[in-house]
Amino acid sequence: MKRRGLVIAIDGTVGTGKTTTARRVAERLGYRHLDTGAMYRAVTLAATRRGVAPEDAAALEALLATSTIDLDSGRGRVLLDGQDISEAIRQPEITRRAGAYADVPLVRHFLVAQQQQWGQWGGVVAEGRDTAAVVFPDAELKIALVADLDERADRRHRELTAKGVGITLEQVRSDIQTRDREDAERDYGGTSAAAEIVEIDTTRMTLEDQVDYVVALACQRGA
Ligand code: DC
Repeated sequence: MKRRGLVIAIDGTVGTGKTTTARRVAERLGYRHLDTGAMYRAVTLAATRRGVAPEDAAALEALLATSTIDLDSGRGRVLLDGQDISEAIRQPEITRRAGAYADVPLVRHFLVAQQQQWGQWGGVVAEGRDTAAVVFPDAELKIALVADLDERADRRHRELTAKGVGITLEQVRSDIQTRDREDAERDYGGTSAAAEIVEIDTTRMTLEDQVDYVVALACQRGA
């Protein structure tokens, strides 16, 4: 089979608009959108529901072997064993717990292998912390989105409030700081891939600007 387009890997800190940017870039280019964070969240939700702790490697392995996680890229839905969990995985409790499950090597190996299958034929916008360094070190375009903490907290707070999640701006800000710390401490390796990353500061950019910019870079590289 012939490759159907580029692999674009978008990394970025919490609240930089990674997910929305990746989804819209994928729509504009007619590519699939791979939200790797949604996969880690789905595992977290499945484990939480079944009472499996991140430390319990045997139970986690059994859980992964018996669960099916599907990303419906076209409709932007996430399914766990056929059930739509798109909203459930965005709840603050799952967000807080996800880091602990994402730290477990067997979870990372399992999900990275699934993610790499998505990239096999190109035509994919993958998004998440290690997508450029580990999952797709040979991606034709690698982007890192950054923005000031206050701006990110504001964006995330507006987003959660609009969804009816009751949480204060202070709590959102502190959750983001915790997750920044966790991300900084997690070693994804692949520093040579990181060297080719195009960093975009989105603090004063609108989402439209971000999307236009990434699409323009992709077109320069043959998308
Ligand atoms: O991007 P997100 O907030 O949806 O990510 C959810 C969690 O999964 C977060 O704790 C970071 C982790 N994650 C990861 O370790 N590697 C990825 N490629 C994507 C997300």
